[in-house]
Amino acid sequence: MKIELFSDLNQLPKSDLLVFPFWEKGESASDLGRFKSGIEPILKSGDFKARNGETFLCYVEGLRIALLGLGKKSDVNSESLRRAYSAAVRLAQLKKIKSAQFVCIEGNHTQAIFEGIFLSNYAYNKWKSDSFHEVCVPLLETIGLIGTEAVRHEALFRELQVIVSSVHWVRDLVNGNADDKLDFVLHEIKSIFSGKKVRVEIFDKQKLEELQMGLILAVSRGAPTEPCLIQVSYEGNPGSPEHVVLVGKGVTYDTGGFSIKPTEGMLTMKCDMSGAAAVLGTVRAAAELGLKINVTALAPMAENSIDGKSYKLGDVYRSYSGRTVEINNTDAEGRLILADALAFAVKNLGPSCIVDVATLTGAAIIALGDDISALFSDDQKLCDQLLSSAATTGEALWRLPLVADYKDAYKSEIADTVNSGGREGGAIKAALFLQPFVGVVPWAHIDLAGPAYLNKPKHYNTSKATGYGVRLLLDFLRQRAGHR
Ligand code: BES
Ligand code: MN
Ligand code: ZN
Repeated sequence: MKIELFSDLNQLPKSDLLVFPFWEKGESASDLGRFKSGIEPILKSGDFKARNGETFLCYVEGLRIALLGLGKKSDVNSESLRRAYSAAVRLAQLKKIKSAQFVCIEGNHTQAIFEGIFLSNYAYNKWKSDSFHEVCVPLLETIGLIGTEAVRHEALFRELQVIVSSVHWVRDLVNGNADDKLDFVLHEIKSIFSGKKVRVEIFDKQKLEELQMGLILAVSRGAPTEPCLIQVSYEGNPGSPEHVVLVGKGVTYDTGGFSIKPTEGMLTMKCDMSGAAAVLGTVRAAAELGLKINVTALAPMAENSIDGKSYKLGDVYRSYSGRTVEINNTDAEGRLILADALAFAVKNLGPSCIVDVATLTGAAIIALGDDISALFSDDQKLCDQLLSSAATTGEALWRLPLVADYKDAYKSEIADTVNSGGREGGAIKAALFLQPFVGVVPWAHIDLAGPAYLNKPKHYNTSKATGYGVRLLLDFLRQRAGHR
């Protein structure tokens, strides 16, 4: 893909589609140059109202032009711009246009515009044989950005390209076939991280047995593939005591085990490693950007499958931390593999803080829907930082309480805890299950069961897997590194 920057319209050599932004009520948001007289009648006609994301295709001066609505000027923010510009990309793709030039608005908006365009320029179409089919959208091969503000930020563009490519990498990983995921991840991290200031360590099944990670081993007992724990550490600030550990749930497929899911519930369960993908994608970008921070991604990988060997309801397993768990629901598997990984981080990695991300509960989707992830933490500073990052990147977060009274639901007659506290307040209870495995280290838990994977495309999330979390965690790392 090619990116071209132009300071103004006069520089533009030629264009397949030229996109002009407008504020609602038809006020132009940029200089219209020689196209002014051709465009004005359209604005007067009222056919185009410039509502956010509205597009209008026309021909002026022999050029194909899209008018793009940004919505009310008073309502403008990063997210509204991401959404608006993503609509222009969708229009281009619908018309099978391979090259488009976007006029940017002036002001500190370049990043949001860039994100809106480039995050939208993604399709998971490798399985589409019929390339002429309407659903198999060809992508933009050349993207031009026009405006003095855009030209001024060439360094920012390079940075954003790294970030967007990490988001796309995560999307590919999550959209991929369940049975291909583990090989894909292992192959990718070896090639991506070789030669960078990054240490990759894979704890295979044998090593997990030596370490006595009883919960990761239990969850994967019925799986045809062996579990592993992936550790990727990037040391961007060797002198600093700060070490952020990001833990991501890596269930490559979640059948529910013997507490089997019905078809509707299982349909999307190849997404159950979205947390793992997000933390690996974050460290990939952090390393490539050379952020001055020490960060480790920890991804317990397991498949929750059904077999004679599968872990069974009523049985008890000992975790890495020593806590014993009576299994009362084999579908509450994510918290089990996370518990071992969290305890491992606390014991071995000297974390200054831990953030885990996981497609942990359907209850988080019931509570907050597809747009918002649930945030849990008793650490006010961590919450403030993560909520601030969410506001910056548009990856929405809402804090839910860790209600201490609900811990009663975990009482077991024969072990230290059961693994499921029931459905009511399920997202909160899942977070409460994790808490004792972390102890006193500052810790936040993000349940991204809703936003990680969408049944229908929405705005710049064009194809099921969204890559949610990468930009959020990167911005969070920037804050921890004192960059912002
Ligand atoms: N992977 C699921 C949660 C999930 C549901 C993610 C929908 C994405 C979309 C998780 O392992 C699970 O099955 N959770 C159970 C917990 C219950 C058994 C306490 C759930 O949400 O029903
Ligand atoms: Mn499950
Ligand atoms: Zn799961």
